Amino acid sequence: MDGNGRWAKRKHLPRALGHKKGVETVRNIVRVAGKMGVEAMTLYAFSSENWNRPEEEISDLMGLLRQYIQSDIDEFVENGVRLKVIGNYRVLDADIVAMIDNAIEKTSGNSKMTLAVALNYGSQDEMLRAVQHIAQGVKSGEIQPEAINLGHIAGALDTADMPPLDLLIRTSGELRLSNFLLWQAAYAELYFTETLWPDFDQVELERALESFGHRERRFGGR
Ligand code: FPP
Repeated sequence: MDGNGRWAKRKHLPRALGHKKGVETVRNIVRVAGKMGVEAMTLYAFSSENWNRPEEEISDLMGLLRQYIQSDIDEFVENGVRLKVIGNYRVLDADIVAMIDNAIEKTSGNSKMTLAVALNYGSQDEMLRAVQHIAQGVKSGEIQPEAINLGHIAGALDTADMPPLDLLIRTSGELRLSNFLLWQAAYAELYFTETLWPDFDQVELERALESFGHRERRFGGR
């Protein structure tokens, strides 16, 4: 969800307003994706590297996250959205952790769409935690090192209960993955758009899905 800062700058507004508009886009895209029948969607909201941003900006982002969960939880329940978090979110402020745990619990029975929010997420950190988890299993004798397979790794990632990643969208013209779903993106189709996240709307999402629909996916075969 890149480009909030540039969107604000172009309009001579404070960065915080770019993030605020970014949340409105989140709300709209979650609704639209649900209506379009998207089964699962992951939003990169706060990376493990975003702690390097100024304290004030981090605080603005956490405030927006609080507001978003509080204001939209009932809509998730109503629309069958299951909320999930990937990343090590337990280090966030205690009230946010409690709010997230409550929202996850309240929506755990929903099955129309899974909305995963990546918080304090970094793909390399996720893989490191997965390796540590598997190593524990080896240590306790639960699994032999030579028996470790791809399923064990996929199953130890934060996305274990999510379907395979089909399409990865990055906004704002940057052509990087920036430590997002690196393992999961092995055969994902990539879609890059110049559009800044606050301007990403239903038409943009339809364009991305239309492009995805024309791709020939071979998964390494001919
Ligand atoms: C990148 O834009 C965006 C972020 C680091 C934050 C994304 C967060 C939100 C949209 C709000 C919180 C999310 C939820 C789910 C409530 P940037 O600031 O790097 O933009 P720039 O590259 O133009 O400066």
